[in-house]
Amino acid sequence: MHDTATDELQAAPMTAPVVARGLVKGFVAPDGSRVVAVDDVDFEAPAGEITAIVGQSGSGKTTLLQLLAGLDKPDAGSVRLAGVEIAEVGDATVTRLRRRQVGFVFQAFNLVPGLSARDNIALPLRLDGRTVDEDRLQDLAGRLGIGNRLDHAPEQLSGGQRQRVAVARALIAEPAIVFADEPTGALDAASAASLLEVLQEAVEELSQTVVLVTHDLALADLAAHVHVLQAGRLERQR
Ligand SMILES: Nc1ncnc2c1ncn2[C@@H]1O[C@H](COP(=O)(O)OP(=O)(O)OP(=O)(O)O)[C@@H](O)[C@H]1O
Ligand SMILES: [Mg+2]
Repeated sequence: MHDTATDELQAAPMTAPVVARGLVKGFVAPDGSRVVAVDDVDFEAPAGEITAIVGQSGSGKTTLLQLLAGLDKPDAGSVRLAGVEIAEVGDATVTRLRRRQVGFVFQAFNLVPGLSARDNIALPLRLDGRTVDEDRLQDLAGRLGIGNRLDHAPEQLSGGQRQRVAVARALIAEPAIVFADEPTGALDAASAASLLEVLQEAVEELSQTVVLVTHDLALADLAAHVHVLQAGRLERQR
């Protein structure tokens, strides 16, 4: 199908594949009070680099990441993702854009129950009608240390293994932009180190742009840019 929005973005080289201006997102708490989770945030992720967002629990990191990836809509402000102003296009275009250009590692993994690790990883390609390169899938899983767990369903995997399946699923389609919410949160030091290598290779060899949320200092150290979120307000640290 012809898709003007995604054709345009492939033609134009992007210096900042993710640009947000004046983002605001609030929620109504169970007691009826209003929580401003993201408060007037400006953000840019330069192409081909790792940008980290750090901050305390509850500071709004997950909410911000979901807004940046077009998974949620802001109350105010704008997001330009892979060259597309997402408020200016329909939901179907945003979905296509996400399938072709974006990988997302959810904090809670969001794997499909009952589906093998292999099929979970292959899902973004299948949803986009693309063929799955079994060798590449096996290689990626091997580098993440889950090559011998591909026939297991999520409920047969440990938390850390599930997390690595979620990372493989976000990377398999070689998206231009990868968002990862605490991608090492469930991992031991050795698995986290392999994951860092995989992410670094993604950036260096495939020029992917990575935006991640982390509490992991080793992961934040690896990032070219670090922003700190505090009660919904974002400040650039480097
Ligand atoms: N659907 C919701 N309804 C009501 N409040 C919400 C909702 N989602 C998030 N919040 C509130 O918004 C604030 C930010 O939440 P968010 O999940 O973005 O934080 P976080 O920085 O990712 O925290 P953590 O490090 O614990 O994952 C919190 O105070 C949370 O209670
Ligand atoms: Mg979170």
